[in-house]
Amino acid sequence: MKRFGYLLTGLLSASFLTVLLLQPRMDHHYSVAMSDIRSIFNLTNLQPDRSWLNVSQTNDSSSCEPKGNLVFIKTHKTGSTTLRNILNRYGLSNNLSFLLNKEQVVGHIMSPSKPTYITDFLPPIGVEVGDYQNYQFNISNIHMRPNWKELRQLMNPSTIYMTILRHPVDQWLSSYQYFHHYKIVEPLRFWEPDPVKAFLKFPAKFKEWSAIVCNQQFRDMEFSMTNGDLNDTSFIRKKIKDYSALFSLVLITEYFDESLILLKRLLCWKFDDILYIKMREQPNPLQADSSSREQIQELNKADMMLYTHFNETFWQMVDEYGPDFEKDLRYFRDHLNAMQEECVGESKVAIVAGNHENIKYKVKAKSEICKSIVNYGYAMEAMKRQQKRATV
Ligand SMILES: *[C@@H]1O[C@H](CO)[C@@H](O)[C@H](O)[C@H]1NC(C)=O
Ligand SMILES: *[C@@H]1O[C@H](CO)[C@@H](O)[C@H](O)[C@H]1NC(C)=O
Ligand SMILES: *[C@@H]1O[C@H](CO)[C@@H](O)[C@H](O)[C@H]1NC(C)=O
Ligand SMILES: *[C@@H]1O[C@H](CO)[C@@H](O)[C@H](O)[C@H]1NC(C)=O
Ligand SMILES: *[C@@H]1O[C@H](CO)[C@@H](O)[C@H](O)[C@H]1NC(C)=O
Ligand SMILES: *[C@@H]1O[C@H](CO)[C@@H](O)[C@H](O)[C@H]1NC(C)=O
Ligand SMILES: *[C@@H]1O[C@H](CO)[C@@H](O)[C@H](O)[C@H]1NC(C)=O
Repeated sequence: MKRFGYLLTGLLSASFLTVLLLQPRMDHHYSVAMSDIRSIFNLTNLQPDRSWLNVSQTNDSSSCEPKGNLVFIKTHKTGSTTLRNILNRYGLSNNLSFLLNKEQVVGHIMSPSKPTYITDFLPPIGVEVGDYQNYQFNISNIHMRPNWKELRQLMNPSTIYMTILRHPVDQWLSSYQYFHHYKIVEPLRFWEPDPVKAFLKFPAKFKEWSAIVCNQQFRDMEFSMTNGDLNDTSFIRKKIKDYSALFSLVLITEYFDESLILLKRLLCWKFDDILYIKMREQPNPLQADSSSREQIQELNKADMMLYTHFNETFWQMVDEYGPDFEKDLRYFRDHLNAMQEECVGESKVAIVAGNHENIKYKVKAKSEICKSIVNYGYAMEAMKRQQKRATV
């Protein structure tokens, strides 16, 4: 139990992850009951209200009420850091309070085996440290594997829930590389030099590993999922139904700009609010041939079902948005290109979080908007602000 808690902390903390995962582990089965999302959130419908999709918006959002109470379940290696930065920028400029752990920079966790106690959070803006009854937040956008009941209690009652998913094969490859999982196949590379094939070629050797490093997006939805659960089709289907009822929007990495058009309408934001630059980019992504891709897909069956379902829902939502979708998308991309032209200077490959390679950008024009979009360190400003207020 305790070791599993450590493992999860490791998954949340990129810098520790490599070290922790290099030790072989058992498939832990434990007795924590899976949360009943439908009763926790009092969900009666199959999906949240979607009438917002069909309400056209003027560009300045004057026709609707902007929304700033959000939970974004931050999945791993899906472009979620870029979205996190968009939400940081909005929350910072609108004085919203973020759910943030006092100590951990990378994330927080609220699992039954390693709970985050209320005392572990920074207070919301305007609330005294220790006035726990008034600890209620507007935005949660960092890594966690939520205990849904606790999370709901900490958030504003009108909170909108969302997440982002990526094709599981590409997500797996990105994660395998980023977290240095390929190191576990090092001894086998004499027989099979390709690190992806080496992992796939000796399935018995990596049985436990497959379970830990696969279906990460499903695991990010909730604590308590066992490997057995994620190999059980009826369990997976039930969970997908629950998530469909909970999430107002599931963004799709492959259609990031399209996702932001939906996000903008859902939240009644302005085009400026959804501007971004890519926060993370693998300079030399691992490649896999089609037979390897098939095998990876098989190992990530639960994630594949999740992704396929929400990819379908996504395009239904685009249809429901109506004929303005293409026009809005084109307008946004022009606006995005103009911003990038103005703001984004040279890029270089840099090491972040200890040992992970990423592309970093310099700010070209030093306007406030450019700095807020390009500056890599901006992601931490929200935390610093709440920390500063908590200590005065
Ligand atoms: C759950 O929803 C039902 C129907 O909308 C409502 O009557 C009930 O009060 C709600 N319960 C809670 C705890 O919000
Ligand atoms: C946010 O807070 C600052 C400082 O208290 C204030 O100047 C500003 O007007 C506030 N912004 C919004 C959008 O409420
Ligand atoms: C942020 O959350 C607090 C606490 O729930 C709430 O009082 C405030 O109205 C929220 N802000 C917005 C803009 O919804
Ligand atoms: C998944 O279940 C099938 C049978 O339903 C079984 O043959 C297979 O070994 C299981 N895989 C894992 C990783 O548990
Ligand atoms: C996602 O949806 C698009 C559009 O319908 C489709 O072309 C694509 O094949 C889908 N991807 C998967 C993996 O289902
Ligand atoms: C809303 O839906 C109707 C019927 O599907 C469609 O004719 C209309 O154009 C849509 N409105 C907007 C603003 O997209
Ligand atoms: C409003 O947005 C549309 C795209 O949906 C664009 O064609 C139009 O130029 C924008 N108008 C202004 C004033 O920005």
